[in-house]
Amino acid sequence: MRKNTVITVKSLSQHEDLIIQGGMVDEGLRGAITIPGDKSISHRSLMLGAMAEGETIIHGLLLGEDPRSTAACFRSMGAEISELNTEEVKVKGIGLGRLQEPMDVLDAGNSGTTMRLMLGILASQPGRFFTVTGDSSLRSRPMSRVIKPLLRMGAEIWGRQGNSLAPLAIQGKQLKGIHYQSPIASAQVKSCVMLAGLLAEGKTTVTEPALSRDHSERMLRAFGAEVLVDPEALSVTLSGHPTLKGQTVIVPGDISSAAFWLVAGAIVPGSDLLIQNVGVNPTRTGILEALGQMGADITEENRREVAGEPVSDLRVRHSQLKATTIEGDIIPRLIDEIPILAVAACFATGTTVIKDAEELRVKESDRITVMATQLNNMGAKISERPDGMEITGPVQLKGAEVDSFTDHRIAMSLAIAALLATGDTTIHRAEAASISYPNFVPTLELAIA
Ligand code: S3P
Repeated sequence: MRKNTVITVKSLSQHEDLIIQGGMVDEGLRGAITIPGDKSISHRSLMLGAMAEGETIIHGLLLGEDPRSTAACFRSMGAEISELNTEEVKVKGIGLGRLQEPMDVLDAGNSGTTMRLMLGILASQPGRFFTVTGDSSLRSRPMSRVIKPLLRMGAEIWGRQGNSLAPLAIQGKQLKGIHYQSPIASAQVKSCVMLAGLLAEGKTTVTEPALSRDHSERMLRAFGAEVLVDPEALSVTLSGHPTLKGQTVIVPGDISSAAFWLVAGAIVPGSDLLIQNVGVNPTRTGILEALGQMGADITEENRREVAGEPVSDLRVRHSQLKATTIEGDIIPRLIDEIPILAVAACFATGTTVIKDAEELRVKESDRITVMATQLNNMGAKISERPDGMEITGPVQLKGAEVDSFTDHRIAMSLAIAALLATGDTTIHRAEAASISYPNFVPTLELAIA
C-alpha cells in the first residue's frame, strides 16, 4: 500500500505545481482506467449540432477546457447547448447559415481546433461580422494555413501580421467551392475548408499530402452531408448546401489521452493496465504501431463500432522497449502523442529518431524544444532536429523542476516521466492538463494506489 504523498498538487495563484515523488511505483501501475471523451470528436459534435436542424444529443463529451471554449462560442451565436456533462448534452441546432452575429469577441481560449474549424463556419455566414481571439499561445499559432484557402473561396478575413495571427476579424460572405491542395497533412485545415464548403456554391475538395484524422468526414456524413472520399488521391469532396439533421453522438475515449497510460504501463515495471473504451479510428492509431515497433506489450480486446467510430479496450503490460524510427506518413496519425513517445524513448534501448514532425513546433507550445529541454533537465539524452528529436536510452531520469509551458500534453508527459525518476519532480503550470484531461491527476493516483 503506498502513501498519498506520491503526488502533491500545490496551487500558486492561477497556476499549479504538481510534485511527484519518483521511484514509488515498485509494484507497477494497475487497474482499469476509463479515459475522457475524444477532444476532436467533442468539438465536431458541438459545432455540427449547433448548425443542424433539430436536436443533437452527445454522450461522453470531453469536459476539458477546449470543448468548453467551443460550446461558449456557439452559445453566443444562438445555439442552445445544455450544461456540459459526460452523460448527456443537448444541442438545439439553429440550422445551417443561421448563426447569429455575436455581441462580443469569440474566445477560442487555448484551442486551435475551435479557432480553425470555426473560421470556416464564420467565413461562410453572409452578412454577419465576427471577431475571434484566443489565449497567448493561440494568438501566436499560424492561422494563415486556414485563411489562405478561405480567401480563395471568397472569404474576407483580417488579422495581425499580414493576416496570419489572431485576433481576427471576419466578414461573412457567400463563398464558392474550390479544390484545395493542402501543403500540410492537417485535419484542422481539411475540416475548416470542408465546413466552409457547407454553405459554398458547388463542390469543395481538399487533397492532403498524407492522411490526417477523418472525424469530420465521418460526422458530416452521419449528419446528412454528401462527402466523397478518394483514399488513393487522399482527397475529400463535399457538396454544398446539405440539410444537416441533429443526431445522437456517442463520443469514444480519446486515444491521445490513453497514450499516457499506454506508455506508463509499458515503462513502469510490474504494470498491467486495462484502458477502456478507446477510440481506435485508423487515422489515430499511429501510437499503437509505434509502441508495437518498440516492443510494447499491448493487446486489443472487445473491438466494436460505436456511432460510426471503432472502439476497443487496450491492455498494456510492462516490457523492455527498444528504439525505433518514427517518420513519414505515420506522423499525422500520432502527432499529438509525440511528447509521450519521447518519454517512452528515454526508457528504450538505443537511439529513437523522430523525423518529419516540424508541425510540433506550432502546437500549443514548441513541443520539440520544450520536451527536449524539460526531459534533458531530468537527465535525458535528447538532441533536437529541425523536424523532430533523437533520443538515446535507456537513462535513469532524476527529479528536477520542469515546466509545462502551459501545454497540456507536456504537463502529462512529464508527470509520467517523473514516476520513474529518482527524487521529486516539480512540474510548474501543471493545471494545463485540464485542457484535454481534467481528471488526469486523480486517475494517476488511482493507478499508483
Ligand atoms: C486536431 C487535429 C490535429 C491535432 C489537434 C486536433 C483536430 O491538428 O494536433 O490536437 O481535431 O482536427 P492538425 O490537424 O493541425 O495537425
